[in-house]
Amino acid sequence: MIFPQPRPEIRDLSPVAHGALDFTELEQSNLRPDDILDFSVNSNPYGSSHTVRTAIASVPLDCYPDREALALRRALSAHHIIPMESILPGNGTVELIWLVALAYLQPGDFALILGPTFGEYANAAALMGAEIHSWHAQPEDNFAFNPIQIAHQLEWTNYRLVFLCNPNNPTGQSLPIDRLTGWAAQYPDTLFVVDEAYITFAADAASALSLNTPNVLVLRSMTKDYALAGLRLGYAVGSLGVIAALRKVRPPWNVNALAQAAGIAALADQAHLHASLQKLRENKRAFVAGLIELGLSPIPSSTHYFLVRVGDGAGFRRTLLWKGLQVRDCASFGLPAYMRIATRRPEENARLLVAIREVKS
Ligand SMILES: Cc1ncc(COP(=O)(O)O)c(C=O)c1O
Repeated sequence: MIFPQPRPEIRDLSPVAHGALDFTELEQSNLRPDDILDFSVNSNPYGSSHTVRTAIASVPLDCYPDREALALRRALSAHHIIPMESILPGNGTVELIWLVALAYLQPGDFALILGPTFGEYANAAALMGAEIHSWHAQPEDNFAFNPIQIAHQLEWTNYRLVFLCNPNNPTGQSLPIDRLTGWAAQYPDTLFVVDEAYITFAADAASALSLNTPNVLVLRSMTKDYALAGLRLGYAVGSLGVIAALRKVRPPWNVNALAQAAGIAALADQAHLHASLQKLRENKRAFVAGLIELGLSPIPSSTHYFLVRVGDGAGFRRTLLWKGLQVRDCASFGLPAYMRIATRRPEENARLLVAIREVKS
């Protein structure tokens, strides 16, 4: 029998591995989601501002959301001091990554990905039939970006898109922004997509938002620092031409009404955000010191999450999961010997340290 077949690009696509709880896995293991402390997501463990709950409580559920998310875009525009026409909200940053690929890539195009990094860039590019080239940071450099090698890679061919995660997931490394400025000027036909999902976690990382360059598109997530993962919210900031192209390919009503209201409320409570990020930086220092005491070597990062070499990342994760603690096995990043851990509250970090001590003894 002949069945309808999807496009060849879709047949060959495999799902991307992600952190966060896998409810199917937990069900199969007879574990309850509420019993797991999750160090595998890099979001703000202090949660969203209490103003968010109040804001979403009064959102009518029977009306379509504002298609243009005007109030949210106005709030983002005031927050970043940028024109609201340059902002496009999405159902999480992931939606925007897929929209960029949809709008800009076709078979025969080349896309460059600076890895190891978030798996959705490769899947979105592959879906559109683009040829993917990768540059890989190396463990001996603590996975730092190597601008000289990247510059050589950029000379290789005419890249239509470059995906750059800054600071990077899973390494927590940042790229000095002047490098990006130089490359964007040198390659005006290339769209540099800079995913800044984690930028507020890195006290010293410079944002590409200030660049105002037509071929740089910045992606921001509100699911991480503002802790809105369950609602899904991100936004793209770019030139009018790029934003217009993304608007053409987005589904209508792509950002639901609760997420729009939550985003506005979260932005209005900067005190909560900054207090929690400050605590997180302090927590990280003690947490890293505790891991070093246990004989581990967390790789220096600019973010609250970091890589640690453990030998068998998958085995380590599994053992910890049985103890009610989830870390990110990094095999899907091509780093099977590593796990990625995100700093949480002090008492939660202490629980992980105790569990790791037990596993190692
Ligand atoms: C680098 C990066 N970008 C984007 C996302 C997804 O963000 P969102 O929840 O806004 O879709 C993630 C989530 O893991 C990520 O690591």
